[in-house]
Amino acid sequence: MAGLFFTFEGIDGSGKSTQARLLAERLRRAGRAVCETREPGGTSIGKGIRAVLLDERLEAMEPLCELLLYLADRIQHLEQVIRPALARGEAVVCDRFHDSTVAYQHYGRGLDLSALETLVVREIGASPPRLTFWLDLDVAAAQARLAERNRRMQEPGTGRLDKAALPFHQRVREGYAALHRHEPGRIVRLDGALAADALHEAVWRELSARVDGL
Ligand code: TYD
Repeated sequence: MAGLFFTFEGIDGSGKSTQARLLAERLRRAGRAVCETREPGGTSIGKGIRAVLLDERLEAMEPLCELLLYLADRIQHLEQVIRPALARGEAVVCDRFHDSTVAYQHYGRGLDLSALETLVVREIGASPPRLTFWLDLDVAAAQARLAERNRRMQEPGTGRLDKAALPFHQRVREGYAALHRHEPGRIVRLDGALAADALHEAVWRELSARVDGL
């Protein structure tokens, strides 16, 4: 069986993690071996990088430093987890991938990624996702969900990045819209306001229609 690479994208609070889990479970029920993973933090080295990236005390991290840490995490993840799983014929379901860097670091923070193009083409372009599910949700609705989750879990804060301002998340959302316009064959836009089970059915419908040999 050929390996299949699927990713989930969206602003914070858009429900990616739930959908990634539901898709992984569904694929397993359909008889596929599944590698369920995430960025940042899909390897032990990546967990260290994630801890640095999401540390609330690091408010002053340089945007370029942040960008390079996300890329470092991704390169380790590709080599250690994603490519080996694809080579074994597994379905890889990844919560965030390179589109997050384009949406957050380029559109959100305004960084120019062209200096990294060689690296991106060679490392990330070599293993593109077969399909990417972009869970599109209004920024205010996503923030309300995050606030509710924090209240339920009695967490005063979920880290530095969740605290970023609304306009930042608005730019990130617009970044995803631009990516979607650019690659409509790979990136599927789904309504993140749907209930989790309805959204999962939409994911499964799109996947069944677009991918042979599931
Ligand atoms: P995520 O793990 O999705 O958050 P959560 O803890 O809610 O599951 O992502 C953590 C943060 O990292 C999120 O704010 C988005 C950000 N991020 C980037 O800015 N660039 C990237 O390339 C990636 C992968 C994540």
